[in-house]
Amino acid sequence: MKRRILNRLEEETGIVSGETLSSELGISRVSVWKHIRKLREIGYHIVSTPKGYRLVGDHDTLYSWEFPGRESKIHYFTEVTSTMDVARDLARKGCPDFTVVIAGRQAKGRGRLNRNWFSSEGGLYFTMVLRPQIPQAISSRVNFSASLTLARTLNRLFGIDARVKWPNDILVDGRKISGMLSEMEAEGEMVRFINIGIGLNVNNNPTEKEPNATSLKEILKKEVSRKQLISGFLDDFEKRMKRETFENVISEWKKYAMTLNRRVRVVTTRDVSEGLAVDVDENGALILELENGERKKVTYGDCFHQQM
Ligand code: BTN
Repeated sequence: MKRRILNRLEEETGIVSGETLSSELGISRVSVWKHIRKLREIGYHIVSTPKGYRLVGDHDTLYSWEFPGRESKIHYFTEVTSTMDVARDLARKGCPDFTVVIAGRQAKGRGRLNRNWFSSEGGLYFTMVLRPQIPQAISSRVNFSASLTLARTLNRLFGIDARVKWPNDILVDGRKISGMLSEMEAEGEMVRFINIGIGLNVNNNPTEKEPNATSLKEILKKEVSRKQLISGFLDDFEKRMKRETFENVISEWKKYAMTLNRRVRVVTTRDVSEGLAVDVDENGALILELENGERKKVTYGDCFHQQM
């Protein structure tokens, strides 16, 4: 009903009377008023005048009904601890492929390598539950497919030069705009689900603790619609996943990569490696050429680009 009321108000540039809404939607005027009150509470700016109601301004709400065609697979929460936790529960209970959990804020947003992910209002925080029918041995390619798609979607929608940094960060002008975290469960050889969580600085200001981070608002000098962004990305990524063979994903990813042919330092929980990043192998491991000329394969870690 809320979606129908919003549709009706969106159609009209002027005022829609309570009586019109009530007769067109087949509900009482008290019921119309209650829905309007609820819509206001959850972020829609609806003005009421003696003649009726009017929807004002652009709203950037991410409720499931804002995503026609995806409605039943979008789960929106104003605040959660982490969308990863909610998505894991849903995945274990058997939710369908391409279920998406979105949060307005996260109280305990998780980053890679046990870090926190600051998740204040205005950013995009979501986790997709994916069920590709692939062996777990190649599951990391799904992450590369997602980061590649996100860089492309950002470039397409905003005309920016978003690039990927190994493994799956997105940078603009060398500063991080997005990070990705993934969790996988398998049944024998095959993937049961891969949950990919994406944090994207959109209209939020990265904190002082993240000096090397930026946001779309900072880059474009204006606020942008999170809804348009996530819809564009989900459409692009779902289309890609339908035809994805995972054969060329790494070579395509490399075309958007900032990490290759430069000196990097990769810090893992076990060691630190420094060298020239010469390649990324078919499953996403970074190949470093060390000082002594040896090659080393790094499968995870924090990658720092050295000054060129
Ligand atoms: C990184 O360290 O770069 C990865 C950050 C991933 C953050 C996203 S926000 C949505 C999802 N929920 C989380 O708790 N983390 C991921």
